[in-house]
Amino acid sequence: MKTVLITGANRGIGLATSKLLRQKKYNIIGVARSKVKNFPGKFFECDLSNSNEIELLIKKLKKLDVTCIVNNAGASFGQSIENLDLKTFDKSIKLNLRPAIQLSLGLVNNMKKRKFGRIVNVASRAALGRELRTSYSSAKAGLYGFARTWALELAKYNITINTVSPGPILTELQIKNNSQNKTYQKKYMAQNPMRRFGKPEEVASAISFFVSDEASFITGQTLYVCGGMSVGHAPI
Ligand SMILES: NC(=O)c1ccc[n+]([C@@H]2O[C@H](COP(=O)([O-])OP(=O)(O)OC[C@H]3O[C@@H](n4cnc5c(N)ncnc54)[C@H](OP(=O)(O)O)[C@@H]3O)[C@@H](O)[C@H]2O)c1
Repeated sequence: MKTVLITGANRGIGLATSKLLRQKKYNIIGVARSKVKNFPGKFFECDLSNSNEIELLIKKLKKLDVTCIVNNAGASFGQSIENLDLKTFDKSIKLNLRPAIQLSLGLVNNMKKRKFGRIVNVASRAALGRELRTSYSSAKAGLYGFARTWALELAKYNITINTVSPGPILTELQIKNNSQNKTYQKKYMAQNPMRRFGKPEEVASAISFFVSDEASFITGQTLYVCGGMSVGHAPI
């Protein structure tokens, strides 16, 4: 049975992915700053924006034969260019980009040894550009470069690395970072070709595909789960 590490696993997309992959008989290891009740696997509490905590986590994970990683933890940092400060930018990189690379680097040797590995990064449609999201979109776009580079270097070990780019999905992150004003919400949804929010489970199924054996010849790719918004807005 394969073991999957999922970061940001206590709610939203990470929890939906943990439940789905457990149903598909994977061993699940979840990570976030706080544990959730009835989690379908082992759980480690870790602040992923702290690289010392990640090093300690990697030491524990090395004993658990992890061959699949879902780098999902993240948070959005909204600021206009006029209000942009580099402290916030650094914070975004430290959470949305650096832990994905640090964790993958810490665990990739086991995948090489096993001649099997799956890494799935959860980026965002915002990586293509979104107003008021300099820090967030830069970090998420960094995940694209990370995946495409590692795809080339690791294919010979039968390790794939792909990206799922969601948006907009109804989770705590979405609610926290967008106005809940009814008129704004209506206009926001009217822009989406599907004219609705996505569900965490709809992102989980794309992540699960990249983890699965069915995706064995796919690497370095990005799959958008965004109701079509990466293609364009709904017709007026
Ligand atoms: N929802 C959307 O519309 C949307 C769109 C595009 C991309 N995404 C991406 O999808 C991923 C999942 O987001 P979501 O929508 O499911 O959001 P969410 O419900 O807010 O979940 C975020 C997860 O990340 C964890 N996390 C945040 N800061 C952390 C830290 N310092 N250390 C460890 N864990 C941390 C959270 O746990 P704790 O806070 O308890 O630590 C939580 O488990 C994120 O990378 C997000 O950028 C979401």
